[in-house]
Amino acid sequence: MFMRKLRYAAALLVCIFLSTQAFAVRETSIPYIDKPSKQLFVSGQPYLMLGGELANSSAASSAYLTKIWPTLNALHLNTVLVPVYWELMEPQEGKFDFDLVDTAIKNARAANMKLVLLWFGSWKNSMSCYTPAWVKSDPARFPLAENRDGKKQAILSPFSNNNLQADIRAYSALLSYLKKVDTEKTVVMIQVENEVGMLPDARDFNSAANAAYNGVVPEELISYLQQSKKTDAVTSAWRKQGSLTSGSWRQVFGDSIATEEFFIAWHLARYTNAVAAAGKAIYPLPTYVNAALNKAGLLPGQYPSGGPLPHLFSIWKAATPDIDILSPDFYNPLFTQWNDLFYSEENPLFIPEIKMEDSNAAKAYFSIGHYKAMGFSPFSIDSAKKPEDIPLGKAYRHLASIAPLIAQAKMNSVGKENLIDGVLLDKERQSAKVVFGDIEITLKHEFTLSWSSGAKQEIWPEVGALIIRLSEKEFLFAGSGVVATFKDAAQKNTLGIESIWEGDYTRDKNSNVPTWNPGRLLNGDESHQGRHLNLPYGEYQNQRIVLYKY
Ligand code: DGJ
Repeated sequence: MFMRKLRYAAALLVCIFLSTQAFAVRETSIPYIDKPSKQLFVSGQPYLMLGGELANSSAASSAYLTKIWPTLNALHLNTVLVPVYWELMEPQEGKFDFDLVDTAIKNARAANMKLVLLWFGSWKNSMSCYTPAWVKSDPARFPLAENRDGKKQAILSPFSNNNLQADIRAYSALLSYLKKVDTEKTVVMIQVENEVGMLPDARDFNSAANAAYNGVVPEELISYLQQSKKTDAVTSAWRKQGSLTSGSWRQVFGDSIATEEFFIAWHLARYTNAVAAAGKAIYPLPTYVNAALNKAGLLPGQYPSGGPLPHLFSIWKAATPDIDILSPDFYNPLFTQWNDLFYSEENPLFIPEIKMEDSNAAKAYFSIGHYKAMGFSPFSIDSAKKPEDIPLGKAYRHLASIAPLIAQAKMNSVGKENLIDGVLLDKERQSAKVVFGDIEITLKHEFTLSWSSGAKQEIWPEVGALIIRLSEKEFLFAGSGVVATFKDAAQKNTLGIESIWEGDYTRDKNSNVPTWNPGRLLNGDESHQGRHLNLPYGEYQNQRIVLYKY
């Protein structure tokens, strides 16, 4: 046993050594995103965010915020997404109070966790509910958006330099403070504003907004469209109008509600980017924005118009060079469809919010494996009852153990054959195939097994797995409720199962090298006597499998 452990540790040492050489290319102690490998780096090392976002008000009292940490620990989080409320941080103009930020940092450090701060500044879910009283009570100085009928809304207008500069001053104060106090780099990323978008109409209709709508489309947007090879709502409308190089919004994109949405998207995005840019100039933490996903059939304004949604990515990408990621918030069952739209080479996937439910575990495995998600984070995580029983907590415990291998697989897949993938299965999609070069793996929902009692259930739970190719004939599986069989993709040989071991990795804190600690050998009933690999439903495991050809 000792020799086997030693062999695994030695093999991993070689891999990790190679990887750290690659990781060391960009030496910096400030967290950053490596776009090719789609990973967040913290202290020069890849960092997988096993996260959870606090309920909106949980960080609004130091006592309350401190009391929820046992729940977060029990869920095996390594990262907590914590709001910073403009009105509590700057209760009087120019007088800042960072007590709540200090409390969050102190608690996170004590629990060995990292933080993502959410800047609840000008907008939170389209509204301006977290602006300070001195802003709310002075609409002459801080103008509000108006609807189509000219009625004022409780929403700061993006067409006001006063609004923007007040937000920038506050956000800059926060970033200056973090730069000063966060020498340990506990805060690893910042969300700028929250679910921006205009309601209840497609755009702002105050006088400044109307003047801007009748003015010309900004040159930066036109030149982005000229260089773009994408076909989406924005580029299509522009090309349909004759690919004009100047003109009003109506001339360039056509006279429609879609154009009103393009217009407000541009201005919301420019404003948000100006806030992000001011912060980055002080302390360049990675930034992202989150999107409220729209439902099919609704018009802009019936959903938050102009937010960072996939059909507006041309506008958001053109307008926000200082925002690293556009992220989806999932309160919507179409998980795969939306991730397909959000994830691209230019937009790594980070899931900052998802409704808390048992399927979170399966979705975490799937999104980290298939979309190389940098992190996953259910909303209102601190409201979990019996956190030790929650599937995601069990999944996070095992995922934490294999995080260095996930990082290494992502790194070694850049520009080469893919070494990591994931699946999400349910009753509608009972099986899937993934191909790793010469090996094809079929993955099935465990309820498809003829002896599974679950098959009779009307609704099958979602199950998921993450798969990493470790070497020519060795794979690591992590997840629950998934059964895998293996084929030679070229169909020249048959593949047999030499061995399957359950186990976990532990990391020596000093060297950061993971050591495989095998548990049971699973070569009997558990693998149907060598016919398949099974991650049992309801359990969360890591299994290493070695194949042979015959
Ligand atoms: C999405 C928002 O971003 C969160 O702050 C919160 O309001 C949730 N919706 C509530 O479902």
